[in-house]
Amino acid sequence: MEVPYFTTINNNKIPAIGFGTFGSDHVSNKEMMESVRLAIKAGYRHIDCASVYGNEKEIGIVLKEAMDGKLTKNKIPREEFWITSKLWNDKHKKEDIRQSFMKSLRDLGLDYLDLYLVHWPFPNYHPPGCDVSSRSPDAKPYIHKDFMILWREFEKLKQEGLVKEIGVSNVTIPKLNKILPDCKIKPSVIEMEMHPHFQQKELRDYAIKNNMTIIGFSPLGSPNRPDRDKTSTDTVDLEDPVVLDIAKAHNTHPALICLKWAHSNNVIPIPFSTKEKNIISNLKSVCEDPLSEAELKKLNKIDKNCRLIKGHVFLWEGAKDWHDLWDEKGFIVS
Ligand SMILES: NC(=O)c1ccc[n+]([C@@H]2O[C@H](COP(=O)([O-])OP(=O)(O)OC[C@H]3O[C@@H](n4cnc5c(N)ncnc54)[C@H](OP(=O)(O)O)[C@@H]3O)[C@@H](O)[C@H]2O)c1
Repeated sequence: MEVPYFTTINNNKIPAIGFGTFGSDHVSNKEMMESVRLAIKAGYRHIDCASVYGNEKEIGIVLKEAMDGKLTKNKIPREEFWITSKLWNDKHKKEDIRQSFMKSLRDLGLDYLDLYLVHWPFPNYHPPGCDVSSRSPDAKPYIHKDFMILWREFEKLKQEGLVKEIGVSNVTIPKLNKILPDCKIKPSVIEMEMHPHFQQKELRDYAIKNNMTIIGFSPLGSPNRPDRDKTSTDTVDLEDPVVLDIAKAHNTHPALICLKWAHSNNVIPIPFSTKEKNIISNLKSVCEDPLSEAELKKLNKIDKNCRLIKGHVFLWEGAKDWHDLWDEKGFIVS
């Protein structure tokens, strides 16, 4: 199966679909290893990792199996993979950044990363598996000066050839408006929540204008996300009548329509699954049977501005609610 790819501003080829590795606090590391094995056997070469997912060591074991030729007929060379990792919020201090990067590199068994992302633009920690009311007493709003100290370390990692692309995740246009003019090396990739009920068109347009490749997380609307990320007003992409209709026309599952939709909008979806059948059909969804222009137009109209990963647990003292994290009034809330 020929998996399409996009080319970044630095001329690196990134597979147009990736495999997520966040087990939403309920998939064991052993189960994650098996899922990544299935994904690599199916043909995924882009793996979306993060130190906070707590499974980079296990994923490193699977990558080694793949590069040693234990998963497929031939050895898979390192260059065929696109491996992303992310800096977690409790490692934003200047002296912690390189150490955390090197730990991810070591755990994954690699000597360079394809992409390193700032997972969230706040140094606000929450323990894995916590509930929605969890708050860190040290939590802070976005502080630009601190962010740029962090970014300088990212720039050094890139200049030293330890990572091919550096990027951001969970940022807003007001934050990017401050960040971009102060960069020596601008972020070339942005990872953002994106599914038909949360389309983020304005942020996507902004990213394209600024030469960033877009990765869309929770592309299926994260049906098994942790309880801390669920509220009674959340809508369900996989039950949307337009998605269901188009799925029927393609004789396929609604999940695959969400992935085709991301692909048609030049976004790289990174779905996660534990099931071989889903892992394979998700990959195929961007390789064959594309949406028609009319279907794409219909799907582009079902946005409900329904953010699922709201980030309650990153709130600082004095913040009103999760909307404060997302600068919805057009300025940075601090
Ligand atoms: N940068 C960030 O802050 C951030 C935040 C969230 C997520 N992410 C990344 O994005 C990845 C994906 O997001 P996500 O895991 O939240 O959600 P998702 O990919 O939208 O949804 C995953 C869920 O959908 C189910 N599923 C997958 N394929 C399916 C199919 N073909 N048919 C029916 N159900 C299907 C899976 O269940 P089964 O196992 O039963 O198939 C799984 O529980 C994460 O793993 C992580 O790598 C990044």
